Amino acid sequence: MRIIILGSGRGSNCKALLDAYESRMLGSSEIIAVFSDVSKSGIMEVARTVGIPGVYLGHYNPTNLKQDDYWISEIKEFQPDLVVLAGFMRILSRKFIQAFDSKIINLHPSLLPSFRGLNAIQQAFDAGVKITGCTVHWVTSELDCGKIIAQAPVRIMPSDTLESVTAKVHAAEHMLLPGVVSEISEGFHR
Ligand code: GAR
Repeated sequence: MRIIILGSGRGSNCKALLDAYESRMLGSSEIIAVFSDVSKSGIMEVARTVGIPGVYLGHYNPTNLKQDDYWISEIKEFQPDLVVLAGFMRILSRKFIQAFDSKIINLHPSLLPSFRGLNAIQQAFDAGVKITGCTVHWVTSELDCGKIIAQAPVRIMPSDTLESVTAKVHAAEHMLLPGVVSEISEGFHR
């Protein structure tokens, strides 16, 4: 399976996936490239450090047809079997999602269907829930609504702060995402 990763931020989940790949947790699957809409992002640095192509594709706006077509054609060149959104902070167009039909998974920092959209960890913390977590799901054209593949829970204790909950959710993500990608590589969840 040819895997590509899209991200806009720190790249810690990309790093967790690359670590899993290096430890041969992903079987015969290959992580072939990382794409970003932010040139000086952590995720681009992660790709550079590991020595896999880190491709900055410029800004992504789903309503800009030219940009959308450019992104689709550049990514298609790599012929991915799986597109992993690991902190990709843009909403993809319907056309993009159809171009990689049933091949895109997204990592989201809440137990969906709760707390969709931006700042999900903060939303959960502010709501006072006692359990939050993270989700990996298939991407459809409705935001954070595709079929759930796997989730990991995180308890919020009275002593927790937004920072400590954030750290716990990220730690849970770093376990969940490589596990899911490994299972997909083995033919599960399709
Ligand atoms: C992760 O917490 C991921 O769940 C979140 O962005 C972070 C990326 O961190 N994604 C979303 O909020 C998407 N709606 P990273 O760049 O360190 O992997």
